[in-house]
Amino acid sequence: MKLQVNRIEMFELIQKSWGAFFHKYEMALNELQSDFQIIDLEWKTKFGYSPIEHMKARVKNPLSLLKKMEKKNIPFNQAAVCEQIRDIAGMRIVTTFIDDVYMLKQHIENREDMRVVQVKDYIENPKASGYKSLHLVVETQVILSEDVLWVPAEIQLRTSSMDFWASTEHKLNYKYQGGAVPQEAKDQLVELSKASFSWDQQMSELRNQLLK
Ligand code: GTP
Ligand code: MG
Repeated sequence: MKLQVNRIEMFELIQKSWGAFFHKYEMALNELQSDFQIIDLEWKTKFGYSPIEHMKARVKNPLSLLKKMEKKNIPFNQAAVCEQIRDIAGMRIVTTFIDDVYMLKQHIENREDMRVVQVKDYIENPKASGYKSLHLVVETQVILSEDVLWVPAEIQLRTSSMDFWASTEHKLNYKYQGGAVPQEAKDQLVELSKASFSWDQQMSELRNQLLK
């Protein structure tokens, strides 16, 4: 009961007085969105094709921030939260082909306005659930009138078929929140992930054949 009250108090405090804290993440996402829109436009005009199918950005909402602080045992102060939670600014970029994911990774690594601080390759090493994506934690440069900030953000890169799998699996699991998803369903999801990856591979092969 006490924990519940604490959560409500903390939630209200975040809503009331953490506005400035969240601003820098919004700024970082504005930067990131604009950076990738430029890449998308450049590719479309140069090659008539862009590796980016679509993208989405979000700042973590106060409730999921609180849940993560509880899960990771992070003290209720902004410096600790900023230091230990690196996905308050989150960006998802959905690509056409698997190669596009790694091409964008390379591009991000080469940029001077982003620093890659962590790479988690769940395409090479999928999660037990079957989840596939490439996660990069970056610090992105935000230039203010009298200051330069490096703001942490998580960029998730995945193909359309990985995205389809992840969003559908998320919805199916949501139904079971608080309860265990039956093992049979879990196994089926892993199989579906393998099947959707085989589509990705076949599409890549087809492209390579057509490019020859
Ligand atoms: P979190 O505390 O959940 O952020 O874990 P973490 O910091 O170890 O990050 P991780 O690399 O596991 O990435 C977490 C994010 O990846 C989630 O917020 C989801 O967007 C996505 N994700 C990870 N695992 C799965 C999964 O099994 N299914 C789906 N649909 N998404 C997943
Ligand atoms: Mg995370």
